[in-house]
Amino acid sequence: MTPTVAFIGAKGGTLKSACTLSIATQFARRGLRVAIVDCDPQATTTRALPGTGEDGEEVPYRTVADPLEAPPVEVMLEQVRALGGTMLLFRSGPLLWKARQDEIVRHIQRAQAVADVVLVDTVPVLGDISLASATAAQLVVIPTAPTADDLDAVDHVVAAIQESVDADKHIRIVLTKVIAGRRNSRDALELLSEKFPDLLYSTTIPHRTTGETANMYLRPAVLYDAIVGDGSLATAYKALAEEIAADLGLDTEWKTAATSGAASAAGRDLE
Ligand SMILES: Nc1ncnc2c1ncn2[C@@H]1O[C@H](COP(=O)(O)OP(=O)(O)OP(=O)(O)O)[C@@H](O)[C@H]1O
Ligand SMILES: [Mg+2]
Repeated sequence: MTPTVAFIGAKGGTLKSACTLSIATQFARRGLRVAIVDCDPQATTTRALPGTGEDGEEVPYRTVADPLEAPPVEVMLEQVRALGGTMLLFRSGPLLWKARQDEIVRHIQRAQAVADVVLVDTVPVLGDISLASATAAQLVVIPTAPTADDLDAVDHVVAAIQESVDADKHIRIVLTKVIAGRRNSRDALELLSEKFPDLLYSTTIPHRTTGETANMYLRPAVLYDAIVGDGSLATAYKALAEEIAADLGLDTEWKTAATSGAASAAGRDLE
């Protein structure tokens, strides 16, 4: 099966979409053929990526009437193309709200048939879309912000996946929107490492204004922060990509930018 990760949660704003965009970008920059499946009818990832469709469609991408039938489009990010990667986007649209679990699974399988690795962005509720995505993926990542409500929701998500999808599903948790030195961030990290010692990623994603505004500039945060920020958010996403790649069993002998002439034209954000 094509390595597939689904970003899932029962709360909004935990960085499911931001993680999908940045981890997908990071994988593509390592030369992989990456498919993003936007399973959220809010279409955050669809609208946050730049490109031109076959019909000359302008950036950013529009949602499609029937995402279950629409073909993918290629994302046009110079920093990705220069490094030999491909990003395919399976866009979202309003009909997804009505899709049954088996239809969502088939939708994800369409992406698995054409890519080296698939990333699925889902919705902030535990329903058909999230559970079907967890079924189709071998790895479920639950991003959570350090608030009491978000942390409570993590318990429910882990239990729901283990009960309704697969008791042995590979689940990981990543703490997001971390503010160094803030008590709630410190306490959240402590609580998660006590409750879920085997599930918690060692990487945390910091709270940064470049993360908040990256979508406006049609750049995944891993690229945007490297250019206009202090680089700390980009560094965190790269570390998270490494952890996720290891869990998915992706080839860790990834290409490095230093060996690619084209890469030096791709901007200052080079590994
Ligand atoms: N590193 C960051 N620090 C602070 N805010 C961020 C960061 N990255 C993204 N944001 C902001 O957090 C909000 C939520 O991010 P995102 O859309 O990725 O969450 P989500 O979990 O996909 O939300 P939803 O459940 O609604 O789909 C966005 O408005 C974004 O601007
Ligand atoms: Mg989202």
